[in-house]
Amino acid sequence: MSAKKLTAASPIGEWLDDEVGGPLVGGLLAASGATAETLAPLRALPLQQLVALSQGQLPQSVVDDLVRQANGGEIPDDEAPSGWVEKITAGRFAGQTVVVTGAASGIGRATAARVAREGGRVVAVDVSADKLAEFAASLPEADIVTVAGDITRQESIDEIVAAAGERIDALANVAGINDDFSPLHETTDAMWDRVMGVNVTGAFKLTRAVLPAMIAAGRGSVVNIASEAGLRGSASGNAYTTSKHAVVGLTRSAAFMYGPHGIRVNAVAPGGVATGIPFPPHVSEAGSARLQPFQSAIPTLATAEQLAASITFLLSDDGVNLNGVILPSDGGWSVQ
Ligand SMILES: NC(=O)c1ccc[n+]([C@@H]2O[C@H](COP(=O)([O-])OP(=O)(O)OC[C@H]3O[C@@H](n4cnc5c(N)ncnc54)[C@H](O)[C@@H]3O)[C@@H](O)[C@H]2O)c1
Repeated sequence: MSAKKLTAASPIGEWLDDEVGGPLVGGLLAASGATAETLAPLRALPLQQLVALSQGQLPQSVVDDLVRQANGGEIPDDEAPSGWVEKITAGRFAGQTVVVTGAASGIGRATAARVAREGGRVVAVDVSADKLAEFAASLPEADIVTVAGDITRQESIDEIVAAAGERIDALANVAGINDDFSPLHETTDAMWDRVMGVNVTGAFKLTRAVLPAMIAAGRGSVVNIASEAGLRGSASGNAYTTSKHAVVGLTRSAAFMYGPHGIRVNAVAPGGVATGIPFPPHVSEAGSARLQPFQSAIPTLATAEQLAASITFLLSDDGVNLNGVILPSDGGWSVQ
């Protein structure tokens, strides 16, 4: 049994450095093909995050078993975790209606959950109806309206605006999809159209639809989710990199145009985040090989809740005086 109490909330680095926990977690990660180098960015993540990261490959029971094995067969009572803990600012969004896309999973879900627990009325949008319903059910006390729809379709945009009602205080454009890491000469029309459609056109259409309410109110806050791939060429494939650079342009143009109307438009550029965002079934070999050494230099992976902290800061009135900012939330990747 480990001398230290290792729990699902303990950082992976603490597990790896522990006499008992090290071989347990090291063995599991090695079996998934991880090496000392690929593990480095994972060290600060709580062990629990492996479930989200594994995209369904690693069931919760495996994490529970590891915790039991490190603690003489028992799961210890929760104690204060040693890493970062989300702190709710009560009432920060009280009286506000906030639209969040991609709300059924990952960063969007963490953002919607935080806004709802901070008193906001959330219009939660996602193409995945089941996961969206599951999210709403997870916060029964909260004021959450769900819209199961596709942001690339005008009917869904109209539904979202109707569900929001007259007042829309803020919008977080979080829904997005990955590309297949293909370099430009390999990028298919289908990949280009789909990635640009969701990541750029969807955010454009929904922002266009909510702006009239914000202009009428003389206030509003929009936060777009860019990416490290919106800041550099070495983080993803051609279509995704282009789409996230376009999100930066969408943000800066709107910030400039609507600043005089009291509307702030900012973006968060996440680095690596443990969400399990899916990749297309076939990923380009040439693109992956070219990107791999640069991706393995990522200093750390964040949790979806850590991204929600950056996003809700810009969404809320705490972001006063910030307009047109592209905020890297990446543990310092962008200074490398
Ligand atoms: N995870 C990362 O490492 C990372 C890094 C940088 C940027 N991002 C960006 O963060 C955002 C959220 O990513 P995530 O990691 O939480 O992914 P995720 O896959 O966990 O969540 C994205 C959600 O968007 C929804 N969605 C996809 N297409 C949609 C559409 N057309 N209409 C409505 N909903 C749609 C999906 O159903 C899903 O629930 C994306 O814009 C992504 O590009 C993620």
